Amino acid sequence: MSPPDHFEVCYSINPWMNTEVRVSPEKASRQWLTLKQALQDGGAAIEEVPPVPGLPDLVFTANAAFVRDGRALLARFRNPERQPEEDHDARSLERLGYEVLRPPAHTSFEGAGDALVYDDRLILAGYRQRTDVEAHGLLSSRFGLPLLSLELPDPSFYHVDTCLCPLPGGHLLYYPGAFDDYGLRVLHANVPEAKRLEVTRSEAAAFACNAVWVGRRVYGNQFSSRLQAALKHRGFEPVALDLSEFIKAGGSAKCLTLRME
Ligand code: ARG
Repeated sequence: MSPPDHFEVCYSINPWMNTEVRVSPEKASRQWLTLKQALQDGGAAIEEVPPVPGLPDLVFTANAAFVRDGRALLARFRNPERQPEEDHDARSLERLGYEVLRPPAHTSFEGAGDALVYDDRLILAGYRQRTDVEAHGLLSSRFGLPLLSLELPDPSFYHVDTCLCPLPGGHLLYYPGAFDDYGLRVLHANVPEAKRLEVTRSEAAAFACNAVWVGRRVYGNQFSSRLQAALKHRGFEPVALDLSEFIKAGGSAKCLTLRME
């Protein structure tokens, strides 16, 4: 995680970002610390990477890279506003002992924001808005896992982690409306119906899919009572934490973390 010392909304690169809306630095800091503490209480060990002035979105560490087995495929950001993050991310990952690989020039890739491991056997990866589909082959071959490419047509769900969240035991939280018919068909062919947990548009707009888990606890900005019951029914413990300041930038619990195991 990276502390929100320089977090603000000073440009707009997704529909959630409105530069007229003020972010409260105190509130952001409190919300971020609450998330960090909750994850630690759940048993996670947190590494912090230093914030950098002028890079407000560096707080969304999920986008830094895709990390697995001691190796990291670094981001190559679509938007020039975030491109200066790449060298900082590379240094942080190297300092943590990861071998850092970079995607080829002209191939956008936004790290774990667009690539999630499902059931420890399959990468579910988004493309079109932030990540180019060309990055998918590289991900699959470098990490030795099959990969499903899912097109993201809806601007509000611009990273795959805004509309899909693999949970332990092969469960999958997802918002069907963020995918096209073909994407859904591919997803359904690979995830048994009993393991699918559908989220409504309003639940997804409250960033229910942008969740991060530790053990059986699932942390997110907000889960409706219906969703809480559905998660509990499958043996999970939903933990809602107000992350309103970060939602102003289009990110929530998952975006604020990068899973390193
Ligand atoms: N403002 C950031 C952006 O648009 C938010 C990133 C959210 N990250 C995520 N993994 N969904 O790039």
